[in-house]
Amino acid sequence: MTRRLCLITGASAGIGAEFARQYAALGWDLALTARRADRLETLAGEVSAAHGIETLVIAEDLGAPDAPQRILSAIEAKGRHVDALVNNAGYGLPGTFFNTSWEDQAQFIRVLYTAPLELAHRVLPGMAERGYGRIINVASLAGYAPGSAGHTLYASVKAGLIRFSESLNAECAELGHADIHCAALCPGFTWSEFHDANGTREEAGKMPKWVWMDAPPVVKQGIEAVNRGQPVIVPGMANKALATLTRILPEPLVRTIVGGQSRRYRRLD
Ligand SMILES: NC(=O)c1ccc[n+]([C@@H]2O[C@H](COP(=O)([O-])OP(=O)(O)OC[C@H]3O[C@@H](n4cnc5c(N)ncnc54)[C@H](OP(=O)(O)O)[C@@H]3O)[C@@H](O)[C@H]2O)c1
Repeated sequence: MTRRLCLITGASAGIGAEFARQYAALGWDLALTARRADRLETLAGEVSAAHGIETLVIAEDLGAPDAPQRILSAIEAKGRHVDALVNNAGYGLPGTFFNTSWEDQAQFIRVLYTAPLELAHRVLPGMAERGYGRIINVASLAGYAPGSAGHTLYASVKAGLIRFSESLNAECAELGHADIHCAALCPGFTWSEFHDANGTREEAGKMPKWVWMDAPPVVKQGIEAVNRGQPVIVPGMANKALATLTRILPEPLVRTIVGGQSRRYRRLD
């Protein structure tokens, strides 16, 4: 029997690499994509040796408009299809909407929003045909809370991913696809290369230890949530408490608190 296959974007580091390890441990074959092929090959070798699964490595830059189509064609060319999709690739743009070029903003929207939606749209018909599918969109607690200076595009894109996931999950249920689920995973501060990649490691390092989580429990909670059909998951007790506060406190107060906190770790130069 052919094993199920999970396509993971941004698998070369952090949360994406952990998704690869956990899906491999669950006995899934993997299609791993990101720009750094060497990292993907190393990870593929590690998880294949540990769990006897098959891995496909597809190096692509999701900022290229035709990358989603090329990734799926590479999977199809191997006679495989996507049973689970983890839209995880992402990064933060330091600075403000004012001082970031439109080219950088447009690229950001492609990688973090357009590509995930296109991948989902392209894999859904096959999932519907086979009566099984899982889609996890890695959003953020930043998309849950009110926006703040310097979070202009990041928070709005992540908020969009949350609403998209909720709506798609509801759509699957209403259309009778009982075993196709979509979930937005909303991590808070998570140890990965994220803050190195966007040059805010020093600022992020000033945040208290209790706000940080390791990738394994974040990923585990994401996989469990999508399997039970839960449309949004905020991992960890501290993050859950923060998310709840954003819902129950008066909005102007939450906006002031979030604005004050984000000033501690956002670069507005
Ligand atoms: N860490 C946190 O505190 C945190 C909190 C909330 C949400 N998140 C979200 O979690 C997700 C994963 O981030 P992470 O924390 O694991 O960060 P990370 O360690 O920096 O990993 C980011 C991944 O995205 C890939 N990526 C970046 N730009 C890409 C592009 N243009 N095309 C293809 N792949 C690209 C990177 O691979 P290559 O460089 O090899 O292309 C890498 O595999 C992101 O969506 C992020 O927004 C993170």
